[in-house]
Amino acid sequence: MRLPLLVTLLPLLLASLALAAPSSSPYAPSSFIRKDSIAIPAGWAKRAPATGNEVVHLHLGLAKRDQLGLEARLQQISDPDHADYGKWLSADDVAEYFSPSAETRSIVSRWLQAHGVEESHVTKRSDMGNSISFSVPLAQARAMLGDADFAYFQHRDSGEERFTATSYSLPREVAPHIDAVFGLANFARGASFRAPYKMVMDDDLEASSAAPSSCQFNLVTAQCLRDLYGTADYKPSGKGQFIGISGFLEEYANYDDLAQYEADQRPDAKGYKFSEVSINGGLNDQSKPGGEASLDVQTVAGIAYPINSTYYSTAGRPPFKADAFTPTNTNEPYEDELNYLIGLKKLPSVLSTSYGDDEQTVPLEYAKRICSDIAGLTARGVSMLYASGDNGVGDTASVCKSNDGKNTTMFLPTFPSTCPWVTSVGATMRFDPEVVTTKEASFIISGSGFSNYFPRPDYQKKAVAGYLAKIGNKHANLYNHTGRAYPDIAAQGSRFKIAVKGKFGAVSGTSASTPLFASIVALLNDARFKAGKPQLGFLNPLIYGLEGKGFNDITQGSATGCGTDGFPALEGWDPAVGYGTPQFDTLKKLVGA
Ligand SMILES: *[C@@H]1O[C@H](CO)[C@@H](O)[C@H](O)[C@H]1NC(C)=O
Ligand SMILES: *[C@@H]1O[C@H](CO)[C@@H](O)[C@H](O)[C@H]1NC(C)=O
Ligand SMILES: *[C@@H]1O[C@H](CO)[C@@H](O)[C@H](O)[C@H]1NC(C)=O
Repeated sequence: MRLPLLVTLLPLLLASLALAAPSSSPYAPSSFIRKDSIAIPAGWAKRAPATGNEVVHLHLGLAKRDQLGLEARLQQISDPDHADYGKWLSADDVAEYFSPSAETRSIVSRWLQAHGVEESHVTKRSDMGNSISFSVPLAQARAMLGDADFAYFQHRDSGEERFTATSYSLPREVAPHIDAVFGLANFARGASFRAPYKMVMDDDLEASSAAPSSCQFNLVTAQCLRDLYGTADYKPSGKGQFIGISGFLEEYANYDDLAQYEADQRPDAKGYKFSEVSINGGLNDQSKPGGEASLDVQTVAGIAYPINSTYYSTAGRPPFKADAFTPTNTNEPYEDELNYLIGLKKLPSVLSTSYGDDEQTVPLEYAKRICSDIAGLTARGVSMLYASGDNGVGDTASVCKSNDGKNTTMFLPTFPSTCPWVTSVGATMRFDPEVVTTKEASFIISGSGFSNYFPRPDYQKKAVAGYLAKIGNKHANLYNHTGRAYPDIAAQGSRFKIAVKGKFGAVSGTSASTPLFASIVALLNDARFKAGKPQLGFLNPLIYGLEGKGFNDITQGSATGCGTDGFPALEGWDPAVGYGTPQFDTLKKLVGA
């Protein structure tokens, strides 16, 4: 994973730290500018002010040398009509765009030096040198961050506590060189998108008139999904790629439960195991099987066998909690995971992530930075799939309010699905035909919406304009008409038969849809490799270019929520389930395999 470039960059940053002339604080408070801020989101309350004795762990994202250059190149290599389609970048190529410039390194180093932060204080530095961590006493953190209002906050339902500020500033000359201070003004919780596990007895099974005959509404098996989407007869080579599965929040993937699932639903996969990788000390404790982790690794085994898979367990909860004199980790899971992956020589072909947050609980500059990291991985040729969420356009009417102090009634979009470089996956249920999931039947509603942070990317402008023309003024004041719309596509997400702690039950969620769709993308890659073609990588320009070809159009149901009937599924693309669910055989032909 160590890049040659890293070898040259690290000493440079260290050298610039060491060479900077010490000086007393050269930054007058009047020259600070606001970097990020957030209102305390619903569900959180300020519990206590800082005591003054805290040690604060700061994790800076340094500006990247050429983010726009990377995005421009990504647009070319992901455009099926471009001569360079599929020429995904190497780790070194991305480092060229993403490492900080010499100017950024020296300005940041001088600022840190002025506050007595020496190279020996730096506890962590990313391979590309674009993120660094260190700890400082509270008073010093406040001096560096324009008197940031550090305090203790608590999440009412979970009791989760965190020590953060609702806004922070940086000196005017430093601000353009730091994208974000991770963890500050950030109330992301990284929820996993799955409904509580439901025990289903075999005698509960509801007969379905559906084709295929392997499908039963109450308990959906791997065979049903393989028959439904047409992958059952495809014989993968399994070579040349592996599927990545994101694990956060101490969700651990269990080998015994996987073996039990295989015996029940994929006897031919007997003995197939995922590999595990620990990021930042993430564990995979076999005595604590997690429902989300089980759903993810079992679905991938059930659909993508024999393609290998890797479970990435990233430690920590976002962002951080500090006790007096005991700085804890910054616990910035998204950033830690993406940063780790982006430096690897060998990456998964597909990454399936079943976690997300209300967009307004993460600050804008932070969201932009995470989205930029995602663009970097996408440019490496990784299909970055994220669950669209389980609450339709938002949970109950009482929570569907803006977080800017004005309490404006609005739909609540989900991040990272709102990032234009991800492929966002919605959820369907039933088979004859497939429809948008409902809370009554499948406990979850396919997540849906429009970003308030990211403008609509070109690849989806035509499709979204077509939908908006059809719905006219419906909910016109509840969503952002210029924002990135999601999901892009969908897959079954209702009542998957999954083993957890030795027992089978039904699990629903876009958390189920995402590893399912990821597996089908990996199978398409497998077919492409056989035809001598590169992996599919960033899917959205391809998918929107197909204008629905290769997908089952879902036209029944609606992504309800916020006390409304939400966005209805209509003919063609819609924000309930995107273009619909995959037809493997047709897609295989369409991608030239
Ligand atoms: C899959 O992983 C196993 C275990 O790490 C390895 O032995 C095998 O070669 C891999 N298969 C492929 C096709 O890469
Ligand atoms: C917004 O809602 C919160 C919580 O219900 C309330 O405390 C606050 O006063 C409201 N603000 C406005 C401007 O209505
Ligand atoms: C709507 O989205 C755009 C980005 O596309 C953003 O600039 C604007 O602030 C958003 N509007 C609201 C009300 O959040």
